[in-house]
Amino acid sequence: MTPTGVSGFTARNHKVLVEKGAGLGSALSDRTYQNAGATLVDSAKQVWDESDLIMKVKEPQASEFPLLRPGLILFTYLHLAADEAVTRSLLNRKVTAIAYETIQLDDGSLPLLTPMSEIAGRISIQVGAWCLQAENGGRGVLLGGASGVRPGKVVILGAGIAGTAACQVAIGMGADVSILDINPTKLRYVRDILGGHATTLMSNRANVEEEVVDADLVVGSVLIPGAKAPKLISRSLVQRMKPGAAFVDIAIDQGGCAETSRPTTHREPIYVEEEVVHYCVTNMPAIVPHTSTYALTNSTLSYGLELANRGFPQALARNRALAKGLNTFAGKVTHEGVAAAFNLPLLPLEEVVSA
Ligand SMILES: NC(=O)c1ccc[n+]([C@@H]2O[C@H](COP(=O)([O-])OP(=O)(O)OC[C@H]3O[C@@H](n4cnc5c(N)ncnc54)[C@H](O)[C@@H]3O)[C@@H](O)[C@H]2O)c1
Repeated sequence: MTPTGVSGFTARNHKVLVEKGAGLGSALSDRTYQNAGATLVDSAKQVWDESDLIMKVKEPQASEFPLLRPGLILFTYLHLAADEAVTRSLLNRKVTAIAYETIQLDDGSLPLLTPMSEIAGRISIQVGAWCLQAENGGRGVLLGGASGVRPGKVVILGAGIAGTAACQVAIGMGADVSILDINPTKLRYVRDILGGHATTLMSNRANVEEEVVDADLVVGSVLIPGAKAPKLISRSLVQRMKPGAAFVDIAIDQGGCAETSRPTTHREPIYVEEEVVHYCVTNMPAIVPHTSTYALTNSTLSYGLELANRGFPQALARNRALAKGLNTFAGKVTHEGVAAAFNLPLLPLEEVVSA
């Protein structure tokens, strides 16, 4: 949470505990938190022990499991369906766990996922340009080209939040950009907002192949909600790409959209396979923690304040979108996807919210 976020709580007379140095990685000093009215404490354990509501970014790590306790409200990204150990720990310790990623508005959108997709999309072109540099194994193409020299060709698969953000940055850098999607409405939107500066194409096998083999940089930003990413790029297609081309697979957190994709980390973000430089970092926004912290706080703050102001379960009873975020309560699973993933009984949300 940013200091401004903290002041949102302290202005309503809530006490906010912040671990000393918690913001340093995001270039936010202790003093700015103090000025916002936060109480700085020496250890994360003290924050866990003395708080009713914990807001953070990552799911609880194994070292944090002993800090979980009955009735604690935990508000963070959880991705429980993919993590049995965290799920079991939250159930065993009877935590009230509300997941950022399952908060859902009536139109089906996921407002707490959007900011991270936008950031990942913007980063994808920045890191893709870096992958294309010769010392990284790239083919030495400058995306914007030069006077009298062609720009690089960028192909973006998926015109959702991440893909559209990538498209904007690629155009801004002067690249020749194509963007593909299976949803014509998404393509129409991109065409409208970018005034035709990118080529929009229907995503089908023929178009994907034709574009990918001609690309300097390919960005994978497809999503089928609740499912693994579709493998749009086979190994044989990667073999036909230009040697030294770059591929940034944003969708790697859903398994990736190429047969050659495997997760990497910020420490070792790239590998070369079939002569193509692959960048497959599962948590891209972590490389820009300052921007990401602001973007996250902008999206989480109103929900966090509602929880603090109204309490649980009243806040959920009044806000349907927030209620959909509830994943575990009193040792029971309250989210369909999580119950299905581990074959656990489901406690209907209505029973909790009306309690
Ligand atoms: N690696 C990271 O750090 C990171 C960060 C944020 C998001 N993500 C991931 O990025 C991906 C995109 O997220 P988003 O928020 O932009 O999703 P989104 O739903 O806004 O967009 C996904 C788009 O993919 C399109 N699509 C689906 N199948 C397709 C196909 N066969 N061909 C072309 N397009 C297809 C959909 O129509 C949709 O427009 C997700 O997998 C998300 O988890 C990764």
